[in-house]
Amino acid sequence: MTERRPVTLITGASAGIGAALARTFARNGHELMLVARREQRLHELADEIVALGHRRPHCQPVDLVRHDAVEQVAAAMARFGLEPEIVVNNAGFGLLGPAATLGRDEQLAMVDVNVRALTGLSLAFVGALERRRGGILNVASVAAFLPGPNMAVYYATKAYVLSFSEALHWELRGRVRVTVLCPGPVPTEFQARAGFAGNPNPDLLTQSADQVAEAGYRALQQGRRRVVPGVANRVTTAIMRFLPRRLLLDSVGRYNRKRYGSIERNRSGDRDPAV
Ligand SMILES: NC(=O)c1ccc[n+]([C@@H]2O[C@H](COP(=O)([O-])OP(=O)(O)OC[C@H]3O[C@@H](n4cnc5c(N)ncnc54)[C@H](OP(=O)(O)O)[C@@H]3O)[C@@H](O)[C@H]2O)c1
Repeated sequence: MTERRPVTLITGASAGIGAALARTFARNGHELMLVARREQRLHELADEIVALGHRRPHCQPVDLVRHDAVEQVAAAMARFGLEPEIVVNNAGFGLLGPAATLGRDEQLAMVDVNVRALTGLSLAFVGALERRRGGILNVASVAAFLPGPNMAVYYATKAYVLSFSEALHWELRGRVRVTVLCPGPVPTEFQARAGFAGNPNPDLLTQSADQVAEAGYRALQQGRRRVVPGVANRVTTAIMRFLPRRLLLDSVGRYNRKRYGSIERNRSGDRDPAV
C-alpha cells in the first residue's frame, strides 16, 4: 500500500481568517487541503499559493452543515492519497439578533458547522495526527468567554469550542498538539453574514486576518493550549473573568443590540409562533 502524504486540512478557507491561515501554513512549507462550499474561491486561493512558489493545495467543496460532511472530507483525502497531519477547524458563522426571532433552522445550521463538524473533524483523524506528531487548531472567539444575548447561539457555540478544545488538549497531551484560537474582531465576510450594520468594533481590539492566522500558527507550533491574539483582547478577556455574570449579560446584550442597529431583518420564516 502506498503511503499517504501528510497535509494540513483547513476548513473555511474560501475567505477571511481561513484564507489567511492557508497562506500562513503554505508559507511555512505545509501541503494543504482546503475545504469550503465555494469551490471557485478555493481554486483562486490555490492559484495564488502556487504563484508564490508553494505546492498546489488540494481543494474540496464540502457543505459542513451536512451530517455526512466528515465522511465526505475523509473520502476526498483518501482519493487524493492524503492524510492530515494538522486539522484546522476554522469554518464558522454567526447570526445577530434575539434567538427567539432568528430562524431556528439557520441557528441549528450554525450549531452543525461551528460545533458538530468541528467535533467530528477533531476526532476523525486522531490516529493519523498521533502517528504524524501533528495537531489540531480550532477557531473559537473571545465570544467564547461570555454569554451573548442578541447573538446567543453563536456565543454558545464558541464557548463549546473553547471548552471542548481545552479538554482535548489535556486528553491528547504528549501525543497530539491541540490549540484553540480565540480572536477578537477581525474585518472579514463574517460581519455581513451575521447581519452587522457596519463595523462598530473598537479599533483597539480589531486585528487583521493575517495577524490572527500568524498568532494561531505560532501557538500551535509551540503546543499552547489557547491563544487570544492582541494585547487589548487578552486584557479584556482577563478582566471579564472578574465581572459579575449579570453585568456581562447586560453589557453584551446592549453592545450586540447596537451592532444590528436599524437593520430590519426577518429571519423568522421557519419559526413556529405556537412554540
Ligand atoms: N471575523 C471575526 O470578527 C471573528 C472573530 C472571532 C472568531 N471568528 C471565527 O473565525 C472563523 C472564520 O471566520 P471569518 O471571520 O474568516 O468569516 P468569513 O470571512 O465569513 O469566512 C467563513 C468561512 O467559513 C466557511 N463556511 C461557512 N459556512 C460553511 C459551511 N456550511 N460549509 C463549509 N464552510 C463554511 C466559509 O466558506 P463558504 O461560504 O465558501 O462555504 C468561509 O470560508 C469562524 O469560525 C468565526 O466564528 C471570526
